[in-house]
Amino acid sequence: MLSKGASVLSAFVSLVSAANVIEKDIVIVGGGASGAYAAFRLREDFGKTVALIEKQKILGGHVDSWTDETGRTYDHGVVTFIDAGNATAFMERLGLELGNFPRATVTEEYFDFTSGEAVDFQPRPFPDQLAALEEFRVQAEKFEPIIQAPGYFNFPEPGEIPEELLMPFGEWLEKYNLQIAAPFIFSSTGLGVGNMTREMTLYALQAFGASMARSTLGTQGSFVPATLRNQDIYDAIGKRLGDDVYYQTTVVDSKRSVDGVKVLIRDSVTGEITHIAAQRLLISIPPTSKNTAAFDLDENEETVLGKLYYNNEYTGLINNANLAANWSYFNLPAAAAPDNYLILPGAPFLTRIDAMGNGTIFRMTFVGDTNTSAGEAKAMMQMDFDRLIESGSIQAPDNGDSSLSWVDFSVHDSMHARVSREEVESGFFQRFNALQGQRSTWWTGGAWAVNFQTHLWEYDDLIIPKMLEGLE
Ligand SMILES: Cc1cc2nc3c(=O)[nH]c(=O)nc-3n(C[C@H](O)[C@H](O)[C@H](O)COP(=O)(O)OP(=O)(O)OC[C@H]3O[C@@H](n4cnc5c(N)ncnc54)[C@H](O)[C@@H]3O)c2cc1C
Ligand SMILES: *[C@@H]1O[C@H](CO)[C@@H](O)[C@H](O)[C@H]1NC(C)=O
Ligand SMILES: *[C@@H]1O[C@H](CO)[C@@H](O)[C@H](O)[C@H]1NC(C)=O
Ligand SMILES: *[C@@H]1O[C@H](CO)[C@@H](O)[C@H](O)[C@H]1NC(C)=O
Ligand SMILES: *[C@@H]1O[C@H](CO)[C@@H](O)[C@H](O)[C@H]1NC(C)=O
Ligand SMILES: *[C@@H]1O[C@H](CO)[C@@H](O)[C@H](O)[C@H]1NC(C)=O
Repeated sequence: MLSKGASVLSAFVSLVSAANVIEKDIVIVGGGASGAYAAFRLREDFGKTVALIEKQKILGGHVDSWTDETGRTYDHGVVTFIDAGNATAFMERLGLELGNFPRATVTEEYFDFTSGEAVDFQPRPFPDQLAALEEFRVQAEKFEPIIQAPGYFNFPEPGEIPEELLMPFGEWLEKYNLQIAAPFIFSSTGLGVGNMTREMTLYALQAFGASMARSTLGTQGSFVPATLRNQDIYDAIGKRLGDDVYYQTTVVDSKRSVDGVKVLIRDSVTGEITHIAAQRLLISIPPTSKNTAAFDLDENEETVLGKLYYNNEYTGLINNANLAANWSYFNLPAAAAPDNYLILPGAPFLTRIDAMGNGTIFRMTFVGDTNTSAGEAKAMMQMDFDRLIESGSIQAPDNGDSSLSWVDFSVHDSMHARVSREEVESGFFQRFNALQGQRSTWWTGGAWAVNFQTHLWEYDDLIIPKMLEGLE
């Protein structure tokens, strides 16, 4: 009698009999933070053969390093790396020296981008903010073992979930009298979830948690490559992996069983189809319905993953001479003035326009909701820019052309995966974690753990041994 797996596989083989067939221990889909690191470790430290499938022509996902004609690089995606887990030892293995993120001398100025008018907002002096951040750290660390370990494996069962994690983050900040820390939390990474005061504390802490507080306070390190080009990390991984990476390639079909997986990949440039048989599949792309279409999800996987919703973010660099050379234009509602620290803008919105130390090159950071497209984001940014010019907050350009002059633009879709409070309370994380290992399939990436580069490397370190259990 054929096992269920064998019959599934034989049906699949006939489907693809004309294609090239290769065998690997592990197929990894997505060569960003989590996928590239996992591929490296599986190959170099666990002696596994791997195939890494990446749809772009480089590894690195959210890293966006743009280099101008003078050779100067501007990182408008990932900015810095928190020193967590084995991150610095990993950099050493890649042959990369560590450097410090160069802080440009930038003044933060506040504007309501819906009107273009300046906002007389007065954050507290920085030492006061740091004192509040220290108290924030203490409160946030209480939850680290259950929400940032770095995944959700220790998340409490329904009925045992601390109410604090479920309450809106604005109320949580008020509970501990931490409002004065809100401007810093929001302006660094809290804004990724939109109006963070309305977000469940659980998810606000994923956007800015204890490790971000520690690295701001200086008790946990952070680094960039000494070359000041973040892409160098992923280029070094790509170099080491060589032909094991399939660039500009996606999975078009697959069969997954307890005995192993088969995936059909297609090179988008040559059109070539390759058929890979492997013992395990590691999916490191956001588990959206679009991204998982080729993986033949079962009803349970579809139901669980279908509960997640995301924010689409967009970043880019503009080269416009009429902005103040050393300013960071920060978007806040007029009602935030002078000291309403919990009044924040919400997605979809242009969060800030940041001087990059060059004089005319500025970084744009846009946070949209699940549905915001790149075109819509660009159009909204142009409208914001025009309003800032009309109200005199930005000098009108000499030639009358107010078009944003994009030199680079990047899509960061499906960020900040989250589910509703009802889902969390009814045991979502238990159902979510239980997907690991089903039909030889494992999952990693921002949806599964703290959504920062090196924390995802740590998450890989945690799941790789589990994933390899039972293999030779
Ligand atoms: C603007 C911005 C700034 C950030 N700054 C920082 C920072 O300073 N420090 C920090 O630690 N973190 C930062 N983050 C967060 C960090 O980048 C993410 O946590 C991390 O990149 C998530 O890793 P991942 O592996 O889940 O996804 P990604 O890094 O996005 O990797 C996914 C990869 O899969 C590929 N892919 C997608 N779909 C497919 C498909 N169908 N088939 C094949 N391949 C596919 C993508 O091209 C990509 O390479 C930032 C994020 C953003 C958006
Ligand atoms: C800023 O960058 C632009 C684009 O690369 C370049 O043309 C210009 O010379 C730079 N300006 C300065 C002051 O370095
Ligand atoms: C960290 O990296 C070093 C250097 O490669 C290695 O010796 C060590 O085993 C690693 N530790 C973990 C926990 O992976
Ligand atoms: C963000 O949330 C706060 C607190 O709930 C609220 O006062 C503010 O108006 C919200 N901002 C937007 C743009 O809705
Ligand atoms: C403004 O930025 C430029 C580089 O863009 C730098 O050379 C200069 O020192 C800065 N000025 C101030 C006052 O910070
Ligand atoms: C996104 O679009 C879907 C389908 O049109 C809609 O049901 C949903 O409410 C939208 N979400 C947001 C946040 O606008």
